Amino acid sequence: MTEIFRRPKLAQELAKQLLKPSVLDLGLRSGLFMFGPHGTGKTTFLIRDLAPALEKGGALVVYVDLCSAPQRSSQDMVEEAIREALSERESEALGSELDIVIDGLGMPGGATIAEVLKTQVDRAKSDIVLIIDEAQEAASTQEGQGIMKALKAARDAINIRLETPGHFMLIGACSDQAACIKMTTDQIQAFYGAVNMTYPLLGKDYVAFLLARLQQEGHCNLPTLEIAEQLFRAVHSKPVELIRALLQFQGPTAIGSSSAEP
Ligand SMILES: Nc1ncnc2c1ncn2[C@@H]1O[C@H](COP(=O)(O)OP(=O)(O)OP(=O)(O)O)[C@@H](O)[C@H]1O
Ligand SMILES: [Mg+2]
Repeated sequence: MTEIFRRPKLAQELAKQLLKPSVLDLGLRSGLFMFGPHGTGKTTFLIRDLAPALEKGGALVVYVDLCSAPQRSSQDMVEEAIREALSERESEALGSELDIVIDGLGMPGGATIAEVLKTQVDRAKSDIVLIIDEAQEAASTQEGQGIMKALKAARDAINIRLETPGHFMLIGACSDQAACIKMTTDQIQAFYGAVNMTYPLLGKDYVAFLLARLQQEGHCNLPTLEIAEQLFRAVHSKPVELIRALLQFQGPTAIGSSSAEP
């Protein structure tokens, strides 16, 4: 089952809070750190729902997963993600001047992250949102803390100006709750004071979507929605685990049941 249950309303609400914050939501501009347990759909939500909603709201979205290349440093990965996203946007709209600044990012004597992002905000007159998946990785090393400090410097250089044509916002997604809390509550962390939230777990509407898809595919012996929802909660709201549990209802000859064995 590869089909994705989309969450546009949740994404739109969050995008609105980030891009057009009410007075109560202004703290989000300091940074937003979101905790969710492994396998509950954080990455899927960030890439499939939130990033498109932010783009629809006019922001340039940069996404990087700090667990995607364990041999590489957080700094390398963040700088490369910024370079790539800005280069694409640059060739689309802004001319070649910014290219020189972008190319120097991360090079000795080249532009800092703050300079690059500020230039982009000023030229494009729009917001930039950097989504760092598995952000806790950056808190655990000196080098990672260094890149977070550079991002904080960029945030302050852009957002604290008397007037700015756009803002820079950071969203950090974490699968380690203690590390996530530490990133916003420990005074030595760059994003001390930023907002912490819990990733909204998938719910009954996802379970109903999944059951409907399974029915369409001809699966029988499916449980009621209520039972399936209880199963989903029992497997800690993890889609893969629910599918595995539902396949047990199909009996030993069900297609995919052998691959569903633990
Ligand atoms: N909205 C969704 N609709 C259907 N399947 C989903 C949805 N969200 C997540 N899944 C499935 O659940 C699994 C885990 O999703 P995902 O990788 O997004 O979770 P995660 O919280 O980022 O996990 P991790 O912390 O391990 O990176 C994937 O197989 C994904 O396809
Ligand atoms: Mg993930």
